[in-house]
Amino acid sequence: MTEIRSIGVVGLGAMGAGIAQLAIEAGYDTVGREVTVELGQAAVARIGHFLTRKVDKGRLEQGHRDAAVSRLSTTVDLDALADCDLVIEAIVEELEPKRALFAELDRICRPDAILATNTSALSVTEIAAATTRPERVVGMHFFNPAPLMPLVEIVQAELTADEAAEAASVVGARFGKEVVRCHDTPGFVVNRVLIPLLNDCLRVLDEARVTPEALDVAMKNGAGWPMGPCTLVDLVGIDVHVHASEALYEKLREPRMAPPPRLVAMKNAGLLGRKSGRGFYTYD
Ligand code: 3HC
Repeated sequence: MTEIRSIGVVGLGAMGAGIAQLAIEAGYDTVGREVTVELGQAAVARIGHFLTRKVDKGRLEQGHRDAAVSRLSTTVDLDALADCDLVIEAIVEELEPKRALFAELDRICRPDAILATNTSALSVTEIAAATTRPERVVGMHFFNPAPLMPLVEIVQAELTADEAAEAASVVGARFGKEVVRCHDTPGFVVNRVLIPLLNDCLRVLDEARVTPEALDVAMKNGAGWPMGPCTLVDLVGIDVHVHASEALYEKLREPRMAPPPRLVAMKNAGLLGRKSGRGFYTYD
């Protein structure tokens, strides 16, 4: 089986930075790619901050923190990922940009390198089809916030070789995650259930005439959710949730999958949740 020693991460937003953090903590040499130097630096600062908080709380030794940080480099140049054994993509959740990126990675990376996508609701098979090595393309679906959520779904697309899925599973386990392997169906396991459920929650806002605060109190205390649905959608990103809902609705045609109009209006108005400073709630 391919031994993974070095990892590339494309896109260092909330998910990509979290994945890069997991990779360096697990001991992998990691190259993160962002479109500008400033975005790369901001991600490194965020990762450094979270690791410092772990030291402050006694969950990580200072020496291990510093060693982890030294394993991370950033670049704006995709060619810098040429020597990586595994590249994990975490860019915008849209099919065409992902397919274009995979075609480029296919050209740049060694033929035996594994290319993984962190897509939450798009087809891994359609992304893999943009390459000449679909047997080496796999889904590695992490959950937000990636360093804290214990699960990774390893998604086997139509042509993914067992060996590539197994190598990705080994990496997931070394990241400290619970690994669930599944096939490439819309929403995989968790989002197939979670996305319509969150959409139901958001429809209840208007139907039952409750505030986001009241809905969050209800679901936390009546269903034992760790955070309420409005807080969760703000964390995930209103745009990401709308895109995932649209992708599932397009594939499954179940009305519950379609994004509630209220959420689409929020996305169009630029209310994207935590990342834009305003969603259901306001953030500093
Ligand atoms: N990276 C690293 N560390 C982070 C972090 C991040 N992105 N965000 C927060 N932290 C750290 C912080 O250092 C913070 O500590 P600090 O405030 O002292 O600095 C700490 O984590 C928070 O730890 P807590 O002990 O407060 O954690 P909680 O017990 O409150 O749990 C939670 C937080 C794990 C996020 C919990 O609220 C939870 O499980 N929420 C549900 C999240 C969820 O369902 N996610 C799935 C979303 S769906 C998805 O991702 C699929 C996608 O495809 C759409």
